[in-house]
Formats: sequence, C-alpha cells, structure tokens
Amino acid sequence: MPARRKPTSSSFSFTRRRFLQGVAAGTAAAVVAPELGRAQLQIDEEISGQPRVAIRLRVNGRSYRLSVEPRWTLLDVLRNRLDLTGTKRVCDRGECGACTVLRDGKPVYSCLTLAVDAQDSDLETIEGLSADGRLHPLQEAFVRHDALQCGFCTPGMVMASKALLDRNPQPSLDDIKEGLCGNLCKCGTYTKIFRAVQDAAQTLRRS
Ligand code: FES
Ligand code: FES
Repeated sequence: MPARRKPTSSSFSFTRRRFLQGVAAGTAAAVVAPELGRAQLQIDEEISGQPRVAIRLRVNGRSYRLSVEPRWTLLDVLRNRLDLTGTKRVCDRGECGACTVLRDGKPVYSCLTLAVDAQDSDLETIEGLSADGRLHPLQEAFVRHDALQCGFCTPGMVMASKALLDRNPQPSLDDIKEGLCGNLCKCGTYTKIFRAVQDAAQTLRRS
C-alpha cells in the first residue's frame, strides 16, 4: 500500500474554480473510467486534505478508474463512489457478513478489505447477479421462501450462497450452514434462508 503522506498547508489553498472542477471530476470518476492523471489526484487531495492514489477496480465486469484515499475500504468505495449500495454496512468491523462481496469468486468482507488491495481482482456485488431484468435463481428463491425480514443481511447472504453453490452445486444442509457461517441474521430467518439455498441449488442444477 502506498505510504501515507501528510498534507501540507498549501494543500488547502485552492480557488473556487478548482473546487468546482474537482467536484465535477470527482463525480464523473464514480461512474466512468477516464485516465486519472497526477493533476486530478492533486485536485482531489486539495479538496479532501488527504493523500489520494489512483486505482482501477473491476466490478461486475466493468472497469473503473478512481482516486481514493489509501484508508478507504472496498465497502466505502462501492457504496460512496460507485453508488453500488446493495452491499450493506452493518457492523463495519468484520462480524456480521452484511458487506459480503465476491473477490475472484470467494466471499470477502468488503468492510475489512482496502480498496487499494482489491485491484487486479474480479469483484462481484449483488447488483451483478440479475441480468436482463431477471433475478438470479438465488434471489428468486429468497423471495419465494420469504427468507428475509429487514433485509439488511440479505445481499451478503445471497453473495455467500452464490460462492457456495458455485463451488458445490449439491450442498447438504450442513454444507449450507458452514458456507453461511460468516453471515449473521439478526432477524433470525436462518431456516428460511437455508431452504431458499437448497431450492436455488435444485433450480441451478436443473438449468
Ligand atoms: S459490515 Fe462488514 S462484516 Fe459487518
Ligand atoms: S433479515 Fe434482518 S438481519 Fe437478516
């Protein structure tokens, strides 16, 4: 990870014009992938008063170039810069699994993953599961089995379930419990969640 650099007092002396340029460019950086030059990083640093680094993330098959603070987590960047708010922040300290995304097919807690460390990985979030307006069989099964109450754990549960079914298409109940052991549901819908995963596994095997 690049070394943190203490901002100098001159970092804060920018004009209104540069501020507006920076806001506009910063907004664009969240949705498109322009080349990020040193000048853009400097503007972002001046606005935030914090050092920035240029990174590239591949999320749901799309590539993004962003300027980020080295301390930002993947969860921060997904939600606050890429507007992918399906990934939930609940405990923000690696205990609940609500922020689970797939990194090269494996479930990770995005609240414990630095965005700068997630480069060169294929990232998948809940937004990447549905295609052409159709829900993924796992999502359909969660709805069919009413496997959610408040829904805060649901995106993480679905992503962890996807990782499980991708590596084990015919899981036993114990396999499902083990595959989801890093995800907590405060509403206690575990029984329905397990049924939904079993149902989705059957659907996926048939298709
Ligand atoms: S929000 Fe990341 S583990 Fe709870
Ligand atoms: S549905 Fe509320 S935490 Fe799981």
